[in-house]
This record gives sequence, C-alpha cells and structure tokens, in this order.
Amino acid sequence: MARPAKAVICRELNKPVVVEEITVDSPKRGEVMVKMTACGVCHSDLSATNGTIALPPPLILGHEASGVVIEVGDGVTAVAAGDHVVSSFIYMCGKCRFCSMGRPVLCLEQHKALVTPLEGTPRTKDKAGKPLGIFSGCGVMAEYATVSVENVVKIDPLIPLESAALVGCAVTTGVGAVFNTAKVEPGAIVAVFGCGGVGLNAIQGAAIAGAERIIAIDTIAAKLEMAKKFGATETLLAKEGEDIAKALKKMTGGGPDYAFECVGNGALAEAAYRAIRRGGKAVIVGVARPTESTSFKPMTMVFEEKTLQGSYFGSCVPRIDFPRMLQLSMAGKLKLDELITRRYSIEEAPQAFADLESGKNARGVIVF
Ligand SMILES: NC(=O)c1ccc[n+]([C@@H]2O[C@H](COP(=O)([O-])OP(=O)(O)OC[C@H]3O[C@@H](n4cnc5c(N)ncnc54)[C@H](O)[C@@H]3O)[C@@H](O)[C@H]2O)c1
Ligand SMILES: [Zn+2]
Ligand SMILES: [Zn+2]
Repeated sequence: MARPAKAVICRELNKPVVVEEITVDSPKRGEVMVKMTACGVCHSDLSATNGTIALPPPLILGHEASGVVIEVGDGVTAVAAGDHVVSSFIYMCGKCRFCSMGRPVLCLEQHKALVTPLEGTPRTKDKAGKPLGIFSGCGVMAEYATVSVENVVKIDPLIPLESAALVGCAVTTGVGAVFNTAKVEPGAIVAVFGCGGVGLNAIQGAAIAGAERIIAIDTIAAKLEMAKKFGATETLLAKEGEDIAKALKKMTGGGPDYAFECVGNGALAEAAYRAIRRGGKAVIVGVARPTESTSFKPMTMVFEEKTLQGSYFGSCVPRIDFPRMLQLSMAGKLKLDELITRRYSIEEAPQAFADLESGKNARGVIVF
C-alpha cells in the first residue's frame, strides 16, 4: 500500500534541507517497506547537500536509521513484517567477487542501488508526482522508506530502536575502521582527527581494542570533552596553522601507531600520514570533496614502511557487524545511547543539520 510520509529532502545544492510530504510506494520484488523509528544525522547527509558527495537532487536524505518492517515484496525471506531492522547504506549483491570474498563494501553492483532500490525505478514521489531519489539506496530520513532487502539488517527486537539506528553508520564506520580496517591491537597508541559521530566511535573502538593511549583532535573544545567520555586519554585542540603531525610526534615520542582521519579534509589526511610512526598506519575515514587532494612523500612509505589506507563503512559485513556492535552495547562495552546528544522531530530537521554543521552534537537523531 502506498503511504504518505514526511521526508527530509535536499531539493537544491547549497540550500537548507526541506521537509515535505511525499508518497512511498509498496515494495516490489526483493524490497521491503519500513516504518522508520529514528534516523541519525551524519556528516555524509550534509555532504550530499553541498556536492561533496555527488548524488543528484531531489534526494531524500538519511542512511543511519532503524525501524520496523511493515510490508515485504515477493521473494523476500531475510525479514518479515514486524521485524526490527537497521538500514545499511551499501547494497551488496552477494555474488560478485568482493561479496564472495566477504568484502561487501566493495560490491561491484553497489552503483545500481545508489539513488533507487536495485530495480532502478524510484518508490518515492513528491506531491506533484515527481520522482525523488534516495541517499545511497536508503533515503531513511522519512517516516516510511521502501528499500532493497539488502539495505536492511534484522536486529534483536529487545534492543531499543532509537539508539540502534546509530549502528547504521557512525558506530559501524568508526568502530569498524579500528576493528576491521586497521585491526588495532592492545597497547597501541592511536590518534583520531575529528570527534564527531564517526570519530567518537573510532575513539571508543580503540578503547575497546585495548589501545593504551588515545589522542583526540578537534577544533572545538567541547568535542574534546565528549571524546574523553568515549575513552580518549589525551586531547589536542587543533588551531589554525598549527602542525598537528609535529605535535603528535612530540607527544608520543615518534608518532602514534595509528591515525584515523574522521573529518574529510585533504590536509588532515596528509597530517595523519605524516604523524604516524615508522611502520604505522593512517586510515582515511572522512570523505573529502572530490576536488581535494593530498600529498605524501613516497620515500617515507619505503624507508619507514608506513601504510595509508581507506576505510569504507568500517570495512564491515553488515549482517555480522551490526549485531556485533549491538552485542557490545548490550554488554555495556560500547556506548550507544550516550552518542545521542539531541533528539529532533522531523520538522526540526533544518535545525539538526545546522547543529551538525556547527559541531553541537556527538550525534543528533531525528525521531519519527
Ligand atoms: N568512510 C565512511 O564510510 C564514512 C561513513 C560516514 C561518514 N563518513 C565521513 O566521516 C566524516 C565525519 O563524519 P561525522 O558524521 O562524524 O561528522 P561530524 O561533523 O559529526 O564530525 C566532524 C568533526 O570534525 C571536526 N573538525 C572539523 N575540522 C577539523 C580540523 N581541521 N581538525 C580537527 N577536527 C576538525 C569537527 O569539529 C567535528 O567535531 C565526514 O567526512 C563523513 O562524510 C565516512
Ligand atoms: Zn554516515
Ligand atoms: Zn557484490
């Protein structure tokens, strides 16, 4: 059954998001309709509104959400009506070389479900009947969403849905970068650039992994206070023109073992790489503008055996890592609810985006 729903939309690049009444169609084969409970506001949503992440407007935002399945299309067996799910912003075909290797974030079919479900036509239209795209196969910043079944993961119904939403991006991206991409070992020295939703999770991931020193870096002092709550042992307030890499080298006597760039900035990628010690690993998690580039001295890569690596969605396997993150939270090891520093109604979405941009929240969450 087609349903009316309020949704947060990017109508025009470099303009504030708008909240509109839309229609969400029933799921087709291999799809599900979800009544959304909550959706986190991630910097990547903001990046879609300013062209950093180039997805064509009009676009329903949102890729970090939870909800309850209310309708399933033909052929769907992984979930049923009534199941609690968290959205996953990567489509995974399950058959390509990378899916077969257990690396679904590299799935070769992903581009086919970027602004629509896999089938290629939209399930969402505006009041005038015009089609609306969905962010990264999700578009879950809406009261209802119809997505490919591969874009949802079933979770334990005993887990509170509101905070579970954050596993759909920030938690899995940040903790996964530490666990899966970098494989941080106990006793390591870790630096994290940027203490937003993603960076705070890299920090708590490093703490869970047993890192000995965790140095949080941000331009906002309040973010550094939050970082301490998530396990940072030291903080560095980044000031304009300051050489952070040099400061980190000095603080650690040679550089951290790992540095995670969780901002999306070419200069910081360079600083992260330069900061790490001999044999260290710099992991780029932040998504920089397509026009940005970075530089490093290839010689250092040879003589110092440094690694520069990217991390997409925490190199996760959603059906394995989402439950794993939630179990860590249930066991009291991973802070989930503490990440939510403000809840917004859907009408307040423009404020939620403004607050993200000014760095007010650990994570702001829209509750439907
Ligand atoms: N790799 C992935 O799969 C993936 C997934 C989600 C988000 N991201 C990206 O990760 C980045 C962070 O996302 P988020 O939601 O945590 O964003 P956020 O806006 O919540 O946090 C960014 C933080 O960086 C800080 N910051 C800004 N400039 C800085 C600087 N020069 N030095 C130090 N700190 C600085 C801000 O004050 C803020 O606290 C974004 O680029 C986002 O697109 C990547
Ligand atoms: Zn995100
Ligand atoms: Zn695949």
